[in-house]
Amino acid sequence: MSADRPGLHTVTQGRGLLFGGDYNPEQWPEHVWEEDAALMRKAGVNLVTVGVFSWGRLEPSPGERDFAWLDRVLELMHGAGVAVDLATPTASPPPWLGHHFPRTLPVNEAGNTLWYGARNQWCPSSRDYHARSTAIVTDLVERYADHPAVAMWHVGNEFGQVCYCDEAAEEFRFWLRQRYTGLDALNEAWGTTFWSQHYSEWEQVLPPRLAPYIVNPSQKLDWARFCSDELLAHYKAERDLIRELSPGKPITTNYMGFFKPVDYWSWAPEQDIISNDWYPDLSDPRFPARAALTHDLMRSLAGGKPWMLMEQSTGAVNWRPHNLPKPAGQLRLESLQAVARGADGLCYFQWRQSAFGAERFHSAMVPLAGPDTEAHAEVRAHGLELHELHDIAGTEVRADVALLHDWHSWWAAEERARPSDRLSVVEQLTDYYHPLWRRGVTVDLAHPSSELSPYRLVIAPQLFVISDADAVKLTEWVRAGGVLVVGPFSGISDPRGHLHTGRFPAPLRDVLGASGEAWRPVDGEVECAWRDETGFKQGFFTARDWTETIRAEGAEVVATFPGDGPAVTRHAFGAGVAWYVATLPDAAALAELTARFMADAQVSGVLAELPEGVEAVRRGDLLWVLNHGDGTVSVPFEGDAVDVLTGSPLRDGVDLAPRGVAILRQHAGPPATR
Ligand code: GAL
Repeated sequence: MSADRPGLHTVTQGRGLLFGGDYNPEQWPEHVWEEDAALMRKAGVNLVTVGVFSWGRLEPSPGERDFAWLDRVLELMHGAGVAVDLATPTASPPPWLGHHFPRTLPVNEAGNTLWYGARNQWCPSSRDYHARSTAIVTDLVERYADHPAVAMWHVGNEFGQVCYCDEAAEEFRFWLRQRYTGLDALNEAWGTTFWSQHYSEWEQVLPPRLAPYIVNPSQKLDWARFCSDELLAHYKAERDLIRELSPGKPITTNYMGFFKPVDYWSWAPEQDIISNDWYPDLSDPRFPARAALTHDLMRSLAGGKPWMLMEQSTGAVNWRPHNLPKPAGQLRLESLQAVARGADGLCYFQWRQSAFGAERFHSAMVPLAGPDTEAHAEVRAHGLELHELHDIAGTEVRADVALLHDWHSWWAAEERARPSDRLSVVEQLTDYYHPLWRRGVTVDLAHPSSELSPYRLVIAPQLFVISDADAVKLTEWVRAGGVLVVGPFSGISDPRGHLHTGRFPAPLRDVLGASGEAWRPVDGEVECAWRDETGFKQGFFTARDWTETIRAEGAEVVATFPGDGPAVTRHAFGAGVAWYVATLPDAAALAELTARFMADAQVSGVLAELPEGVEAVRRGDLLWVLNHGDGTVSVPFEGDAVDVLTGSPLRDGVDLAPRGVAILRQHAGPPATR
């Protein structure tokens, strides 16, 4: 995102927070469109995403064009005062593409073709796909570039395709040649002396296709990089076309949270608007914290600026094995949670529930039962309420704490052959995030090579790959006063996937004042002991699955494994502190440790005390308090405030109903005397 480009502000200007959803009128006869427009107005809808899956309607047979229906949709939306986020239809090619141009069809790692009949059947490296998608996008954008209904552009949908075909292999080799110039360098980087994998001609180099046994991890790591880059190249090709033909309108594509195949850090600077699709699993007890973590990732990808929740559901999805509906109040709570964490757009999949096709059982803003339903009444009430909050658009959220996350490290860490598959990058991020969230501490996500000066506490729950330059930077940041926390299996590999030699984590050994020599996964739990400054045991906690043989080299030992080897260390280093946690502590122990990290970093939550299940975050000058629990709670705070939603004055606290939200404008100065 660049400052001189149009952005989300271009769309929110004059509209406030954006509210709406995916609108697929092509699934309905035209008289329903009229009803849609009228209902949208009543629900305060001000933005709809149109055309995501309309390639087959726009180009019913190769080269044919039918834009007339879309003309009418855009006119209708414009007349209703609903802005359009117009999508390029390239996520779902019509059957004719695969039929006439079979090389557009993706091939999986076993060499099987994935056919049309669903969606997403395209190979990112296919020249035929590129030519045909560019043709339809060009005509679409030329036609609607200046249409007054079109407020922004939406490229494709949820980029994530991977293809192992011969054309992809060619492109992979091309990408590798740029990276390594010569085969010698490639052989060196991939460590091909292992198992006799030496390549003597470029033509021998392939994607990591299905093989008899474990495939070279460095080859797979480069393949993951290539796949993300290849998709990005496709996104950029469409984007550049739109920029040329429709300058002045911002462009986005929708992310999928912590979606492993795509490195969103490298994508984010290429987008004018960061947008995300978020479908929580309500059967997961930690889903509210996961939502917060994912929203924080989006805000961080947007460089702290507002972002957009492009898709969420009003109720149940239909693609999990067992799909829980949302209780009353949940859609509002989830949407306001995203606003609290920096979202300026709150959109849903989809406006009207489909009567046919693969998503017949997916909830929508207008259910099949029609507008006279509890579900639609909630949607309408929420849309109108968001309207009242228009001033919030554009305000920002600040964080003192960062969690380090790097897609390349994630790819490298979760290789098939490793000490334990019970270590999970995203679960460890969530483990460390959770206690901070519980205490109302706002967290950003940061790439390890990003600027860390805004933060006082930086946590690397599992940073398997760390470059020497980043390790030096982290070390100097601690020396200058930062507080760093490093979790297990961090600092183990270089960016090629070669493990560092010597005691681990080699590049962070000095700053941690501790080092290890062996990973020792365990089955189930181990009992660890807290130690005081004199080394006495001060209680116990459980940890699971993972232990290490480490020794303190200047650090104090905060906790030990059975057998008295260090499990957690703390090292005063320069003006800062570096912690090393060599296991997966249980939630209570991580909460205890978090309190100590926060004390070292002098970081505190936005409220002194938060009842279980309550989230608190400050956006702009407003304090948002959200009750994710099923019971009424009282949330204490000091002094006077006004609840922006109700206009009610409050003193010393607020009561929140189940799934209730308060947005507080606190009054400066000491509390008034009673
Ligand atoms: C998203 C997708 C939408 C719809 C939705 C259903 O992944 O972008 O088109 O399929 O899921 O939950």
